[in-house]
Amino acid sequence: MSIDSAIATDLAQRQRLRVPTHLGVIMDGNGRWAKARGKRRTEGHVEGVKALRNLVDNCASYGVSYLTVFSFSSENWGRPKEEVSFIFNLLRRFVASDLQRLVRNNVQVRVIGSRQGLEPGLVRLIEDVEAKTAGNTGLVFIVAFNYGGKAEIVEATRRLARDVAAGRLAPEDIDETKLADSLYTAGLPDPDLIIRTSGEQRISNFLLWQAAYAEFVFVEENWPDFDEASFIRVLETFAQRDRRFGGIEVADP
Ligand code: IPE
Ligand code: IPE
Ligand code: MG
Repeated sequence: MSIDSAIATDLAQRQRLRVPTHLGVIMDGNGRWAKARGKRRTEGHVEGVKALRNLVDNCASYGVSYLTVFSFSSENWGRPKEEVSFIFNLLRRFVASDLQRLVRNNVQVRVIGSRQGLEPGLVRLIEDVEAKTAGNTGLVFIVAFNYGGKAEIVEATRRLARDVAAGRLAPEDIDETKLADSLYTAGLPDPDLIIRTSGEQRISNFLLWQAAYAEFVFVEENWPDFDEASFIRVLETFAQRDRRFGGIEVADP
């Protein structure tokens, strides 16, 4: 294929896609990926990190502005202690190995979720990554870690209640904007599209408030198998969706 026709093919393919401004991903199926290969669950998490690295690259190259990934839920504490500490160490290793690359690629990292119950060393590491990438102007990469949507709403409500009790806020001034501004995601647009891998079709406490009008795409592959071809297929599916936000199709009389 000549370079010109390769560019034309690439362009045609990209025209069939719709790129969300904010993409959310529930990266599920690491354990099943490993089990299917006779490996330990932890090996699935290691492979999952590789898929995540590719996803970040794809989001940057296709022009996604915000990417939020679910990497550890507040309910995942219920797993065996060894698995939980393996996942925590994986986060540490990911930061150590990828920070330079993220800085070079102009990626801004934010970590959302509760910092309570995390070791002080891990909290410092998170703060360090956020500070070192804060000035970057490319992809905003949001890691939902020790995150639960219900807990986030409770925390926001508590903050607003404190403001009311202190006389800084009138109850009637609490509206959707005020509540949204009290969430971890304050200042970020809501996700347009949420992908969940591994065939499960549920939200599992991810971005409950923010997902009010998100499109959902559920794919069969386990997270470690989610590659650029899967990413493109999802964006093609997204392009077929008609987002009405409670209204009617614009073309309808
Ligand atoms: C997703 O994969 C990663 C985390 C929840 C941390 P799982 O570990 O949930 O894998 P399955 O769903 O058991 O296959
Ligand atoms: C959701 O996956 C959390 C993450 C991907 C981090 P789970 O595997 O914990 O969800 P359930 O338990 O199947 O709903
Ligand atoms: Mg799972």
